[in-house]
Amino acid sequence: MNLPMSPMRRRHCFLIVGFIVFLPFCFFNLFSVPDVTSEQFLVQRIAELQVKLQYLESMYRSRQEDLRKLSERVELYSTSATGGDNSSSWVISPNYSELRPEVTQMIKNMSGMVAAQGLNPPVMLRMPSSYHFLPHLLDDPSSLRLAYLLSKGRTGVSVVLGVPTVKRDKQNYLMDTLQNLIDGMTPEDIYDSLIIVFIAEVDLEYVLSVAKEIELRFSMYVESGLIEVLSPAASYYPDFDKVRITLGDPIERVKWRSKQNLDFAFLMSYSQPKGTFYVQLEDDILAKPHYITDMKNFAIEKTSKKEPWFVLDFCQLGFIGKMFKSAELPWLITFFQMFYNDKPVDWLLDHLLYTKVCNYEKNNDVCKREKAKMWIHYKPSLFQHIGTHSSLKGKVQKLKDKQFGKIALFFPHVNPEAEVTSAIKHYKQYTLKRAYLGETFFWGLLPQPGDQLTFKFTSPIPVKRFHFKSGNAEHPSDKFYNTTVEVLPVELPSNAPVVLSNMTSDGYVVVGKFESSGIATGTVDDSLGKIQALRLHVHSDSDNWAILSEIYIQDELASR
Ligand SMILES: *[C@@H]1O[C@H](CO)[C@@H](O)[C@H](O)[C@H]1NC(C)=O
Ligand SMILES: *[C@@H]1O[C@H](CO)[C@@H](O)[C@H](O)[C@H]1NC(C)=O
Ligand SMILES: *[C@@H]1O[C@H](CO)[C@@H](O)[C@H](O)[C@H]1NC(C)=O
Ligand SMILES: *[C@@H]1O[C@H](CO)[C@@H](O)[C@H](O)[C@H]1NC(C)=O
Ligand SMILES: *[C@@H]1O[C@H](CO)[C@@H](O)[C@H](O)[C@H]1NC(C)=O
Repeated sequence: MNLPMSPMRRRHCFLIVGFIVFLPFCFFNLFSVPDVTSEQFLVQRIAELQVKLQYLESMYRSRQEDLRKLSERVELYSTSATGGDNSSSWVISPNYSELRPEVTQMIKNMSGMVAAQGLNPPVMLRMPSSYHFLPHLLDDPSSLRLAYLLSKGRTGVSVVLGVPTVKRDKQNYLMDTLQNLIDGMTPEDIYDSLIIVFIAEVDLEYVLSVAKEIELRFSMYVESGLIEVLSPAASYYPDFDKVRITLGDPIERVKWRSKQNLDFAFLMSYSQPKGTFYVQLEDDILAKPHYITDMKNFAIEKTSKKEPWFVLDFCQLGFIGKMFKSAELPWLITFFQMFYNDKPVDWLLDHLLYTKVCNYEKNNDVCKREKAKMWIHYKPSLFQHIGTHSSLKGKVQKLKDKQFGKIALFFPHVNPEAEVTSAIKHYKQYTLKRAYLGETFFWGLLPQPGDQLTFKFTSPIPVKRFHFKSGNAEHPSDKFYNTTVEVLPVELPSNAPVVLSNMTSDGYVVVGKFESSGIATGTVDDSLGKIQALRLHVHSDSDNWAILSEIYIQDELASR
């Protein structure tokens, strides 16, 4: 049987692939880009292809592994079929011409001895696999299956973003995180990336509700294949009540960090074949604009300078913003499986690197230096935490990355002159008046049903459009919920197509409302004529305070 391609043929195959990708680019480059930058560009492009090649090779290796398993089985089957009776002899006709002459001579001299028959026995060494470290996976044949998958099957991208998420008692920032991740992408990034949301829960009802929300909120990106959603089979997890207490931690903490290790291993295993680089994220983060391009360029720069690396670190916190070559993820996955019950995930990453590069006999400074070469920090940070509540109950997460810098918390606009009143009490200096003038954002305490924020125009104007954004980067949950946008026309023309249900008892017309994204945006029908006032009308009470980070009322004259 001639199974896997020889290494030589494989190399040729890759060279040809590389050549095909590379050749048109050379021509393009020759004729269109000035010389000095073109060389730099070329070096970068080669580096990019190198990493891609490494990724393709790792993909090839897993196919090879499949073949190997298959051929092992075939071989065992055929020997047991033909050599069944000769139980004392395990020899599968050794190929004497492959052996050195001395060895052949030795075998001849040993003829008649049982010891001589020990060549090429059909015994296959069994190396430990995941099942050894996670024996509970054997209890259910579907333990490594997915319970849920929403996917368009996108593969071969440059950057895969892994976003694990769990049910939280308090605020959930997943939707805001996804919105922010997409907002920070360039159009090219959107085609060359993949966001994989791993819902690390076994409650299918919850999984489906999150998947539904993602599909509704980001239908375009789910449709184009940018976003995937998945969840594991319940039998993927061991009985966490039986974890060993380690590091003297309370049991709840041991359970939480053990599960996190297994979650990361699952997400990484699923993500590994999808793209060249993998970046570990969390579900409560903010990203800087162009973060994908910045990460990609940094990785390629390191590769083109022939600086070997294992982790590129784009955030100083925990396990956020760590980039790996997908081809090297199996190192981490296996490590997490081996020690999931022993250490938190970020410690394991550190230990793995320690094991890889540190010399036990040299001092700690040498080790630190060696690790820093393989674990490279990028500054300023590209990611920041937004949550104040960690998913571990009661543990308030206050860690912020100081390297991230300032974030825009509001977006000022020039608005028509108006008298501004708010029934919601403001916090500190965050008044509605200042927010309307674009000096800050409005931050109000716990809105109550019936509360109104009113903008009464100095002179009535024909309002064309309005755009209100609630919540901001640091407090994404401080949104307006169940709140309508209403306008008060000077007089309602008889031809206005206003449905009766759109009229309030005090003469306002409902023209829009805040969506779950925290945004209220829309146009006002011309037929309503001049408008005296516009208001935001709250209909339910809220567990959150409310922020208005963007107020934009556009009259007919203003142009965008
Ligand atoms: C057992 O081995 C002998 C010598 O190698 C061979 O002649 C014989 O046919 C074998 N028997 C079977 C059942 O394969
Ligand atoms: C034995 O090995 C030689 C050299 O590797 C090879 O040319 C030959 O085909 C092999 N014979 C058998 C029966 O496998
Ligand atoms: C063959 O085996 C005998 C006895 O075991 C030994 O004396 C002799 O040197 C061996 N010959 C060779 C060529 O190995
Ligand atoms: C009536 O209100 C809805 C929102 O509640 C809005 O979408 C619609 O445009 C309004 N109709 C008019 C004529 O303003
Ligand atoms: C909004 O508030 C109204 C009035 O209190 C209530 O009837 C309605 O169910 C609320 N809608 C949502 C989505 O909470």
